[in-house]
Amino acid sequence: MGVGAYAPAQVMTNEDWAKHVETSDDWITARTGIKRRHIAAEDESTADMAVKAAQSALAAAKLGPEAIDEIIVATDTPEMRIPDTASFVQHRLGAREVPAYDLGGGGCYGFLQGVDIARSRVLHNGGTVLVIGVQLLLRLIDWTDRNSCVLFGDAAGAAIVGQNGAGPEILSMVSGTDGRHTGAISLPVGGTRHPFTLEAAQQNLQQRVLLEGRAVFKEAVKRMTQAARDALAKAGSSVSDVALVVPHQANLRIIEAVAEHLGLPLEKFFVNLQEYGNTGPASLPVALWDAMQRKIIKPGDLVLLTAFGAGLHWGAAVLQF
Ligand code: ACO
Repeated sequence: MGVGAYAPAQVMTNEDWAKHVETSDDWITARTGIKRRHIAAEDESTADMAVKAAQSALAAAKLGPEAIDEIIVATDTPEMRIPDTASFVQHRLGAREVPAYDLGGGGCYGFLQGVDIARSRVLHNGGTVLVIGVQLLLRLIDWTDRNSCVLFGDAAGAAIVGQNGAGPEILSMVSGTDGRHTGAISLPVGGTRHPFTLEAAQQNLQQRVLLEGRAVFKEAVKRMTQAARDALAKAGSSVSDVALVVPHQANLRIIEAVAEHLGLPLEKFFVNLQEYGNTGPASLPVALWDAMQRKIIKPGDLVLLTAFGAGLHWGAAVLQF
């Protein structure tokens, strides 16, 4: 019924990163396509960003917070460990005392997972569900680890899922998980397997995002391509019907490889990672919002969303505008 987004005002360029770690604009651009990313202000928290994205989506849907019947927040960077970010969002948004909960740890796939749940809830119960994907990772990661720090950005995106309104229809969704690759993208310290100890803190391990870059790359291409094909088949559509693909914005080379595997030209893929970096669960709604703002999507267009994240989880959706 409406899509919204929020990115903090402050921008950090590749050259800015080169002041912190041994890297360069050339390396980051060539390997990822990223040029800039937004970074949250010191006094800004995950819930602050989530609320702004939610207000943007509500305005797009021409609704007030009282219209929301359920709130789902997908984030790996919660406001606090307890309680969940959704509780803060419910109160600050001025929503009614509706069910609200977080989906955590699913990385860049989290938003699609939220939409999938929202869609089932709406089909079963009716009503209107707010789904938010939000990431404030730059405050939590290791600013000395060049393997990971340059990849990410802070942002929030949101969608209102319901049965009325002028928005697109969700024709189909698919998703899956392969838990053999839990080590491919992880932040292990701070959970029960590796508790946060003084020794871990002395090595800054609570901030260390572990990435098996090449394995992630390979799996991302394979799973995003397959999910896209499966979602299209479920919708009774084919690749040639697709007007625009909005993929998870992790890396331009991943997007190029998915385009090649699907047999679609790169021009059919919406790319804004050069401006935002990888914003995790915010990546898809921010990209969809951006494509809609720029009027790239026209009435009647079939739009394909496809995402991949830690877990490993993946999913895709077909939207009829
Ligand atoms: N600046 C300069 N050099 C760097 C940097 C950096 N920021 N980071 C790593 N390097 C160096 C490495 O140390 C290595 O040097 P060495 O050869 O002397 O050891 C060299 O560059 C090559 O490193 P690789 O890791 O082999 O580089 P690769 O070509 O694989 O690119 C990347 C790394 C961009 C992470 C790639 O693997 C990738 O795209 N992975 C998938 C995306 C991803 O992991 N995203 C993270 C989030 S997960 C998600 O969104 C699904």
